[in-house]
Amino acid sequence: MTSPTAATVETQQPRISAATGAQPLVRGEALRKVFRSGESEVVALAGVTLAVAPGEMVALIGPSGSGKSTLLHLLAALDTPTSGTVYFAGNSLAALAENELEDFRSHAVGFVWQRHQLLADFTAAENVAMPLLIRGNTAGEALSSARAWLEEVGLADRAEHRSGELSGGEQQRVAIARALVTRPKLLLADEPTGDLDERNTESIFELMQRLHRSHHLTSILATHNLSLAQRADRVLALEHGLLTSDDAGFAHRASGRVAAGESLAPEGRG
Ligand SMILES: Nc1ncnc2c1ncn2[C@@H]1O[C@H](COP(=O)(O)OP(=O)(O)OP(=O)(O)O)[C@@H](O)[C@H]1O
Ligand SMILES: [Mg+2]
Repeated sequence: MTSPTAATVETQQPRISAATGAQPLVRGEALRKVFRSGESEVVALAGVTLAVAPGEMVALIGPSGSGKSTLLHLLAALDTPTSGTVYFAGNSLAALAENELEDFRSHAVGFVWQRHQLLADFTAAENVAMPLLIRGNTAGEALSSARAWLEEVGLADRAEHRSGELSGGEQQRVAIARALVTRPKLLLADEPTGDLDERNTESIFELMQRLHRSHHLTSILATHNLSLAQRADRVLALEHGLLTSDDAGFAHRASGRVAAGESLAPEGRG
């Protein structure tokens, strides 16, 4: 007979086991970020090491100021660490030239912010099309992909509405479509439900889970909502710029599922 604990552990891990044998999609090694302004220094990240397997959905929790946004920005290459290295699919972001980093930001990662940051005077479809236009697709191609994505997030009938006319929950759906229209592998979301009421919080989270699965995404979601966090595959907790739930769990749990000889150890470490 299987104990409830073992059953729970099994059901929490399907995507981790599916990912074993693969290297982490994204990995941070000893990430430190120090912000300086004049004389003062703020240590936002004090040495964070983490690895996220392809297909995992990870929740990032921690009190305000603990470094969640800073960490997401480093993983998205929106900012650079003071020291330490971010690896994407085994490649150090620090080794990329500026044009390669641009490419990484616009192809590999989708980012959803707490405040949707849509252009209010543009339609939902135009907002979603924007990343494709920036990367050189024609307007026709970009708008047609945008409309397909709006349909996927349940907003087909709002495609031609100006985004400023949409509700908060609808705007966040548009923002999710915009984050995914370039078909990134990694979805990073910084308190995507932070401004929403309970009902919209639930429906946005369900949408993100559905898209995560159907598009085989790897997702990292910063949130203050602990009940949402517990529905992710794994929870990482930050406090004062350090992970308190240590990430050894990744290697430990995965190791039981990796055939002998296969290694999940980060490259460059034995
Ligand atoms: N650009 C910046 N310049 C100076 N200090 C910064 C900067 N960005 C973040 N910080 C500081 O770094 C620390 C971590 O901030 P961060 O925004 O990552 O926290 P957070 O966990 O996302 O908080 P919240 O839950 O409120 O969003 C804080 O002390 C913050 O004041
Ligand atoms: Mg934040």
